[in-house]
Amino acid sequence: MCGIVGYAGKEQCADILIDALSKLEYRGYDSAGIAVFENGVIKTEKSKGKLADLKDKLAAENSKPEGCVGIGHTRWATHGEPSDVNSHPHGNANVTIVHNGIIENYKEIKDFLLKKGYNFDSETDTETVAKLLDYFYEGNPLETIIKVISEVRGSYALGILFKDFPDKIFAVRKESPLLIGLGKTSNFIASDMTALLKYTRNYYLLEANEIAVISSENVEIFDTHKNPVAKEVNVANWDADAAEKGGYEHFMLKEIHEQPTAIKTTISPRINAGMPYLEESGLNMEDLKKYRKIFIVACGTAMHAGIVGKYIIEKMARVEVTVDIASEFRYRDPILTSEDLVIVISQSGETADTLAALRLSKEAGAKTMAVVNVKGSSIAREADIVIYTHAGPEISVASTKAYTVQLSIMYLLAFELAYAKGRISKERCEQYIADFVKIPDIIEDVIKSSEKSCQFAASKLMNADSLLYIGRGLDYALSMEGSLKLKEISYIHSEAYAAGELKHGTISLVTSEMPVVAVATQSDLFEKTVSNIKEVKARGAKVTLICKESDNVDEDVADYLVKLPVIDDVFMPILASVPLQLIAYYTSVLKGCDVDKPRNLAKSVTVE
Ligand code: F6R
Repeated sequence: MCGIVGYAGKEQCADILIDALSKLEYRGYDSAGIAVFENGVIKTEKSKGKLADLKDKLAAENSKPEGCVGIGHTRWATHGEPSDVNSHPHGNANVTIVHNGIIENYKEIKDFLLKKGYNFDSETDTETVAKLLDYFYEGNPLETIIKVISEVRGSYALGILFKDFPDKIFAVRKESPLLIGLGKTSNFIASDMTALLKYTRNYYLLEANEIAVISSENVEIFDTHKNPVAKEVNVANWDADAAEKGGYEHFMLKEIHEQPTAIKTTISPRINAGMPYLEESGLNMEDLKKYRKIFIVACGTAMHAGIVGKYIIEKMARVEVTVDIASEFRYRDPILTSEDLVIVISQSGETADTLAALRLSKEAGAKTMAVVNVKGSSIAREADIVIYTHAGPEISVASTKAYTVQLSIMYLLAFELAYAKGRISKERCEQYIADFVKIPDIIEDVIKSSEKSCQFAASKLMNADSLLYIGRGLDYALSMEGSLKLKEISYIHSEAYAAGELKHGTISLVTSEMPVVAVATQSDLFEKTVSNIKEVKARGAKVTLICKESDNVDEDVADYLVKLPVIDDVFMPILASVPLQLIAYYTSVLKGCDVDKPRNLAKSVTVE
């Protein structure tokens, strides 16, 4: 995800900006740049690649800007590939900006500005904001920023330089993070305090649409009515390592909380005029319609995302989908032809078995598509078509946000394919998309509202030796992920089972010593799952039930309940994944396990 820094002080700032940016590298990025006031002129230098590439460029061209006020940026590409021209800062001689977030209505703004005679160099949404600032500017930066934020939709953290104010940085944010660092003879902006700990530990948190005016001597904050806002000074007392966790105790919890943004960032570039739009990834819907069969191949959590994908693609588009564990697929001599599509899913893009499965599929003549989070990874480089998820760097070994963005791509694919094959009408497809875009905000609420009940459920599960997760249909698909999450970080054995299959053997394991987590979010299967829950309760199991707010649950059905808001059943897995993640997280915390680095596991599995 993009990182922003800014400095207004008494020292030469190019090196300070680059040093501060280096502390944001963990966020992941593919290009970097700085803009500094040099003798009253905004001088911008940027480069595709790492900060080292930017430094090399400045040294080779002897072009390091000289001046004491500037902004810097590391970019994680969303709109437009990583390239020098798409790198930030963006703007012109009058206004130059760095941006983190997504401007949802950038196409409208761009069309408007094109008609006003503006030209655009990059493919980014950011450049439209820079040019809109220039368009509205009449000498008063505060008024200009207020006008611009009333026009743009989406998420943004912006660091802005106006040519007429060479001693100042302006900043504003909504949804994307940004804070103001307070030094003795210098002040800063940064995406998180990691970047600034070397310089100061005092900072202001900028609230949504508060506008900061920052010089070396002073920081003023205004609301959108130009009233000054009094701020409380915060003091960062974490070490640099904790700061990277943005104040969360563990990366896993941070990443659970990042899911609304990750989903938004992943889906918004893939929605056009209210319809799914995956063609920008090189996907040709005419070809896609023709495939005989789809294979989804992946490992672990990514494979579980594929299982949800199978259920929704088959249900909506009526195309046959087979899901395979990559380490099995590669050795089972699968029947592949040039009429098949193989979708591999991988967060890291480097998982050895998934990569081998991809290569095998290509050799067999199948078309390959990769759903990958890490840009430029081996799987991304080798697949015929790449759809990037935009989860940002996932540091915790237990995957959370990478899973929900993989699910998001599965949904978009199912909708687009179902529409292309004439299985759903345009109106129905638009309705699915309209519902889908609301999900990040609903997830935000679910994280808050289910935290306590998940903590409580975890306190009841933590002493078990073994657990069962049960569900039917999409709930079964999701239970597999819930079960994996719990076992990998809490070291409690657990197994996911199709609720209707229990009585064919596994129910003999059920006693009062074996708690059961039941997921029942699908209206058509609710009664049936409740019957299966009663079967395990009759054998003494304590049941944690995840269901919808609207479900009437008799007292004798569940011992612990987590209720979720009611949305279209098809989307319930993405919502219900949150309490499953939180239950696993709190169980691990309560047991004192190493949550982010569970024993024996690595983030990227590059061996067979
Ligand atoms: C579990 C987890 C793993 C990965 C699996 C595949 O929380 O993270 O099961 O999902 O190792 O990794 P990627 O997605 O990098 O191919």
